[in-house]
Amino acid sequence: MHKDCEKIVIGAEEIAARVQEAAAWLDGRFCGSVPVAVCNLKGSVMFFTDLVRAMKTDVELDFMAVSSYGNETVAAGRPKIKKHLFSSVQGRDVILAEDIVDTGRTLVTLRNFFAERGAKSLTVVTLLDKPSRRKVNVSADFTCFVVEDAFLVGYGLDYAERYRNLPYIAALRRDVYES
Ligand code: PRP
Repeated sequence: MHKDCEKIVIGAEEIAARVQEAAAWLDGRFCGSVPVAVCNLKGSVMFFTDLVRAMKTDVELDFMAVSSYGNETVAAGRPKIKKHLFSSVQGRDVILAEDIVDTGRTLVTLRNFFAERGAKSLTVVTLLDKPSRRKVNVSADFTCFVVEDAFLVGYGLDYAERYRNLPYIAALRRDVYES
């Protein structure tokens, strides 16, 4: 385990097994159509690449980035789209991969984004859900793990852009993020 971490919350094998289940669930939902799988950078990158590789359904891949303001005093907590999709999603089935639903504001922004762009359907798959932190009433269609309100890093999740490449999800030591 990385020296800055307090404990591993979800191990690499447990993640891999659950990602297979998420992929199987998506395969059951989309047999016959070719959805666009969208990765919301950067936190979702590991989850996204593992998820689409575990799927049997043909998918197209696209990428976008939304910045969420963790500090509620900034910009009224409204996330902003920093990078748009490469392709149109008009009339398409869309799968959105998120790493975490926290306050839910990013997911609301993304649901509105895809509705405004005329997506035929939107299926949200999240790796983690922290319902205790929710500020708006929104949820994913498939959640891999419900987690407690700890500072989590790894498998895409960062603190100050670090720890994204850890193969597991771990709680960061308090003295690391409070120093
Ligand atoms: C994180 C995470 C989600 C969002 C969830 O993104 O990837 O997209 O916050 O938070 P919310 O439910 O409170 O809106 P972040 O802005 O940290 O960017 P990153 O993915 O590049 O780390």
